[in-house]
Amino acid sequence: MEKKEMMYEGKAKKVYSTEDKDYVVIYYKDDATAFNGEKKGQIEDKGVLNNNITSMLFELLEKKGVKTHFVKKISDREQICRKVDIIPLEVIVRNYAAGSMAKRLGLKEGMELKTTVLELSYKDDSLGDPMINDYHAVGIGAATFEELNEIYSVAKKVNDILSEFFLKSGIRLIDFKLEFGKFNGEILLADEISPDTCRFWDAETGEKLDKDRFRRDLGNVKEAYVEILKRIEDEIRA
Ligand code: C5P
Repeated sequence: MEKKEMMYEGKAKKVYSTEDKDYVVIYYKDDATAFNGEKKGQIEDKGVLNNNITSMLFELLEKKGVKTHFVKKISDREQICRKVDIIPLEVIVRNYAAGSMAKRLGLKEGMELKTTVLELSYKDDSLGDPMINDYHAVGIGAATFEELNEIYSVAKKVNDILSEFFLKSGIRLIDFKLEFGKFNGEILLADEISPDTCRFWDAETGEKLDKDRFRRDLGNVKEAYVEILKRIEDEIRA
Protein backbone atom coordinates (compact mmCIF):
# COMPACT_ATOMS: atom_id res chain seq x y z
CA MET A 1 0.00 0.00 0.00
CA GLU A 2 1.55 3.30 -1.16
CA LYS A 3 1.50 6.33 1.10
CA LYS A 4 0.00 9.50 -0.36
CA GLU A 5 -0.23 12.95 1.23
CA MET A 6 0.63 13.71 4.85
CA MET A 7 -2.60 14.21 6.80
CA TYR A 8 -1.15 15.01 10.19
CA GLU A 9 2.19 15.57 11.87
CA GLY A 10 2.43 15.00 15.61
CA LYS A 11 5.35 15.28 18.00
CA ALA A 12 6.70 11.79 17.33
CA LYS A 13 4.85 10.54 14.25
CA LYS A 14 3.46 11.52 10.87
CA VAL A 15 0.28 10.08 9.41
CA TYR A 16 -0.18 9.63 5.64
CA SER A 17 -3.27 8.74 3.68
CA THR A 18 -3.19 5.77 1.31
CA GLU A 19 -5.19 4.85 -1.80
CA ASP A 20 -7.59 3.02 0.53
CA LYS A 21 -9.64 5.42 2.69
CA ASP A 22 -9.76 2.89 5.53
CA TYR A 23 -5.98 2.71 6.01
CA VAL A 24 -3.13 5.07 6.86
CA VAL A 25 0.65 4.80 6.95
CA ILE A 26 2.16 5.91 10.26
CA TYR A 27 5.79 7.09 10.12
CA TYR A 28 7.85 7.16 13.35
CA LYS A 29 10.23 10.12 13.76
CA ASP A 30 13.32 10.53 15.95
CA ASP A 31 11.98 13.73 17.53
CA ALA A 32 11.54 13.64 21.26
CA THR A 33 9.57 16.13 23.34
CA ALA A 34 8.74 16.35 27.02
CA PHE A 35 6.78 18.58 29.37
CA ASN A 36 4.14 19.33 26.74
CA GLY A 37 6.69 20.29 24.08
CA GLU A 38 8.79 22.60 26.30
CA LYS A 39 11.81 20.30 26.05
CA LYS A 40 12.76 19.23 22.54
CA GLY A 41 15.43 16.93 21.18
CA GLN A 42 16.21 13.96 19.03
CA ILE A 43 16.96 10.41 20.03
CA GLU A 44 19.00 8.69 17.33
CA ASP A 45 16.99 5.89 15.67
CA LYS A 46 14.08 6.31 18.11
CA GLY A 47 11.64 6.08 15.19
CA VAL A 48 13.06 2.73 14.12
CA LEU A 49 13.12 1.41 17.68
CA ASN A 50 9.60 2.57 18.59
CA ASN A 51 8.15 1.30 15.31
CA ASN A 52 9.65 -2.11 16.08
CA ILE A 53 8.60 -2.10 19.73
CA THR A 54 5.04 -0.91 19.03
CA SER A 55 4.59 -3.38 16.17
CA MET A 56 5.65 -6.34 18.32
CA LEU A 57 3.52 -5.27 21.29
CA PHE A 58 0.42 -4.64 19.15
CA GLU A 59 0.90 -8.06 17.51
CA LEU A 60 1.11 -9.63 20.97
CA LEU A 61 -2.05 -7.80 22.11
CA GLU A 62 -3.94 -8.76 18.93
CA LYS A 63 -2.96 -12.40 19.52
CA LYS A 64 -4.45 -12.14 23.02
CA GLY A 65 -7.74 -10.75 21.66
CA VAL A 66 -7.28 -6.97 22.00
CA LYS A 67 -8.67 -5.14 18.97
CA THR A 68 -6.16 -2.56 17.71
CA HIS A 69 -5.65 -0.24 14.75
CA PHE A 70 -2.41 -2.05 13.84
CA VAL A 71 -2.26 -3.96 10.56
CA LYS A 72 1.43 -4.50 9.79
CA LYS A 73 4.92 -3.07 9.87
CA ILE A 74 6.01 -2.23 6.32
CA SER A 75 9.45 -0.65 6.79
CA ASP A 76 11.94 0.41 9.45
CA ARG A 77 9.88 3.44 10.38
CA GLU A 78 6.42 2.73 8.95
CA GLN A 79 3.35 0.68 9.71
CA ILE A 80 -0.06 0.36 8.08
CA CYS A 81 -2.93 0.99 10.47
CA ARG A 82 -6.69 1.27 10.23
CA LYS A 83 -7.74 4.90 9.91
CA VAL A 84 -9.52 5.62 13.18
CA ASP A 85 -11.18 8.73 14.53
CA ILE A 86 -9.10 9.35 17.61
CA ILE A 87 -11.10 9.73 20.83
CA PRO A 88 -9.61 12.89 22.40
CA LEU A 89 -8.68 11.17 25.67
CA GLU A 90 -5.43 9.83 27.08
CA VAL A 91 -5.92 6.86 29.36
CA ILE A 92 -3.12 6.46 31.90
CA VAL A 93 -2.70 3.16 33.70
CA ARG A 94 -0.55 3.07 36.84
CA ASN A 95 0.73 0.08 38.81
CA TYR A 96 3.34 1.98 40.85
CA ALA A 97 3.46 5.67 41.79
CA ALA A 98 5.75 7.70 39.52
CA GLY A 99 5.90 10.89 37.51
CA SER A 100 3.01 13.32 37.82
CA MET A 101 1.05 11.14 40.28
CA ALA A 102 3.99 10.81 42.67
CA LYS A 103 4.55 14.57 42.48
CA ARG A 104 0.91 15.60 42.84
CA LEU A 105 0.19 13.30 45.79
CA GLY A 106 3.61 13.50 47.48
CA LEU A 107 4.36 9.79 47.00
CA LYS A 108 7.72 8.08 46.72
CA GLU A 109 8.32 6.94 43.15
CA GLY A 110 8.10 3.16 42.97
CA MET A 111 5.44 2.76 45.70
CA GLU A 112 3.25 -0.18 44.71
CA LEU A 113 -0.36 0.97 44.39
CA LYS A 114 -3.07 -0.96 46.26
CA THR A 115 -5.08 -1.08 43.07
CA THR A 116 -4.35 -0.28 39.44
CA VAL A 117 -5.06 3.41 38.99
CA LEU A 118 -6.77 4.62 35.81
CA GLU A 119 -6.64 8.30 34.89
CA LEU A 120 -8.12 10.27 32.03
CA SER A 121 -6.67 13.35 30.36
CA TYR A 122 -8.30 15.51 27.75
CA LYS A 123 -6.05 15.34 24.68
CA ASP A 124 -5.36 19.00 23.93
CA ASP A 125 -1.79 20.28 23.64
CA SER A 126 -2.83 23.93 24.00
CA LEU A 127 -4.30 23.11 27.43
CA GLY A 128 -1.45 20.75 28.42
CA ASP A 129 -3.65 17.63 28.36
CA PRO A 130 -5.50 18.39 31.63
CA MET A 131 -6.56 15.52 33.86
CA ILE A 132 -10.35 15.04 33.82
CA ASN A 133 -12.83 12.57 35.28
CA ASP A 134 -15.45 10.39 33.60
CA TYR A 135 -18.15 13.05 33.96
CA HIS A 136 -16.00 15.66 32.24
CA ALA A 137 -15.27 13.20 29.42
CA VAL A 138 -18.96 12.49 28.91
CA GLY A 139 -19.98 16.10 29.54
CA ILE A 140 -17.72 17.45 26.78
CA GLY A 141 -18.84 14.72 24.39
CA ALA A 142 -15.47 12.92 24.16
CA ALA A 143 -17.09 9.55 24.94
CA THR A 144 -20.21 8.00 26.48
CA PHE A 145 -20.22 6.20 29.84
CA GLU A 146 -20.63 2.91 27.95
CA GLU A 147 -17.59 3.70 25.82
CA LEU A 148 -15.57 4.63 28.92
CA ASN A 149 -16.46 1.29 30.50
CA GLU A 150 -15.24 -0.51 27.40
CA ILE A 151 -12.07 1.62 27.28
CA TYR A 152 -11.30 0.90 30.95
CA SER A 153 -11.88 -2.81 30.49
CA VAL A 154 -9.51 -2.91 27.47
CA ALA A 155 -6.95 -0.80 29.38
CA LYS A 156 -6.98 -3.29 32.27
CA LYS A 157 -6.64 -6.22 29.90
CA VAL A 158 -3.69 -4.52 28.16
CA ASN A 159 -2.15 -3.92 31.60
CA ASP A 160 -2.52 -7.59 32.58
CA ILE A 161 -1.00 -8.81 29.31
CA LEU A 162 1.89 -6.35 29.25
CA SER A 163 2.71 -6.50 32.98
CA GLU A 164 3.05 -10.29 32.77
CA PHE A 165 4.97 -10.15 29.49
CA PHE A 166 7.48 -7.57 30.73
CA LEU A 167 7.96 -9.20 34.11
CA LYS A 168 9.09 -12.33 32.28
CA SER A 169 11.70 -10.12 30.57
CA GLY A 170 12.85 -8.70 33.91
CA ILE A 171 11.01 -5.40 33.56
CA ARG A 172 8.47 -3.77 35.86
CA LEU A 173 5.72 -1.95 34.00
CA ILE A 174 5.31 1.12 36.21
CA ASP A 175 2.73 3.05 34.17
CA PHE A 176 1.71 3.78 30.59
CA LYS A 177 -0.59 5.82 28.39
CA LEU A 178 -3.09 4.48 25.87
CA GLU A 179 -5.18 6.12 23.18
CA PHE A 180 -8.26 4.77 21.48
CA GLY A 181 -10.00 5.45 18.21
CA LYS A 182 -13.21 4.50 16.44
CA PHE A 183 -13.30 2.49 13.23
CA ASN A 184 -16.72 1.63 11.78
CA GLY A 185 -18.29 2.27 15.17
CA GLU A 186 -15.90 -0.08 16.95
CA ILE A 187 -13.40 1.08 19.59
CA LEU A 188 -9.83 0.09 18.73
CA LEU A 189 -6.61 0.56 20.68
CA ALA A 190 -4.57 3.11 18.68
CA ASP A 191 -1.38 5.20 18.82
CA GLU A 192 1.79 3.50 20.11
CA ILE A 193 3.14 1.54 23.06
CA SER A 194 6.84 2.26 23.51
CA PRO A 195 9.40 3.68 25.95
CA ASP A 196 7.98 7.10 24.94
CA THR A 197 4.60 6.18 26.43
CA CYS A 198 5.47 3.72 29.22
CA ARG A 199 7.68 3.69 32.28
CA PHE A 200 9.82 0.56 32.31
CA TRP A 201 12.09 -0.18 35.28
CA ASP A 202 14.57 -3.04 35.38
CA ALA A 203 13.04 -5.46 37.90
CA GLU A 204 16.41 -6.23 39.54
CA THR A 205 18.21 -2.89 39.58
CA GLY A 206 15.35 -0.40 39.27
CA GLU A 207 17.17 1.25 36.36
CA LYS A 208 14.87 3.41 34.23
CA LEU A 209 14.59 2.12 30.65
CA ASP A 210 12.25 4.70 29.12
CA LYS A 211 11.75 8.34 28.17
CA ASP A 212 12.40 9.51 31.74
CA ARG A 213 16.10 9.18 30.75
CA PHE A 214 15.44 12.00 28.22
CA ARG A 215 13.05 13.99 30.45
CA ARG A 216 15.47 13.94 33.40
CA ASP A 217 18.77 14.09 31.46
CA LEU A 218 19.92 10.72 32.79
CA GLY A 219 21.97 9.86 29.68
CA ASN A 220 22.05 6.57 27.69
CA VAL A 221 18.60 7.29 26.27
CA LYS A 222 18.98 5.36 23.01
CA GLU A 223 20.65 2.49 24.89
CA ALA A 224 17.56 2.14 27.10
CA TYR A 225 15.24 1.90 24.06
CA VAL A 226 17.59 -0.64 22.46
CA GLU A 227 17.53 -2.69 25.68
CA ILE A 228 13.71 -2.69 25.76
CA LEU A 229 13.57 -3.85 22.13
CA LYS A 230 16.10 -6.62 22.87
CA ARG A 231 14.17 -7.86 25.93
CA ILE A 232 10.91 -7.94 23.92
CA GLU A 233 12.57 -9.83 21.06
CA ASP A 234 14.15 -12.33 23.49
CA GLU A 235 10.83 -12.89 25.27
CA ILE A 236 8.90 -13.36 22.00
CA ARG A 237 11.51 -15.87 20.77
CA ALA A 238 11.50 -17.75 24.10
O1 C5P B 1 3.70 12.21 33.35
P1 C5P B 1 2.86 11.12 33.95
O2 C5P B 1 3.44 10.54 35.20
O3 C5P B 1 1.43 11.54 34.13
O4 C5P B 1 2.86 9.94 32.85
C1 C5P B 1 2.26 8.69 33.11
C2 C5P B 1 2.60 7.74 31.96
O5 C5P B 1 1.94 8.15 30.77
C3 C5P B 1 4.09 7.70 31.61
O6 C5P B 1 4.42 6.37 31.24
C4 C5P B 1 4.21 8.63 30.43
O7 C5P B 1 5.27 8.24 29.58
C5 C5P B 1 2.87 8.45 29.75
N1 C5P B 1 2.39 9.68 29.09
C6 C5P B 1 2.40 9.78 27.70
N2 C5P B 1 1.94 10.91 27.08
C7 C5P B 1 1.45 11.93 27.79
C8 C5P B 1 1.41 11.86 29.20
C9 C5P B 1 1.89 10.72 29.83
O8 C5P B 1 2.82 8.84 27.02
N3 C5P B 1 0.99 13.00 27.15
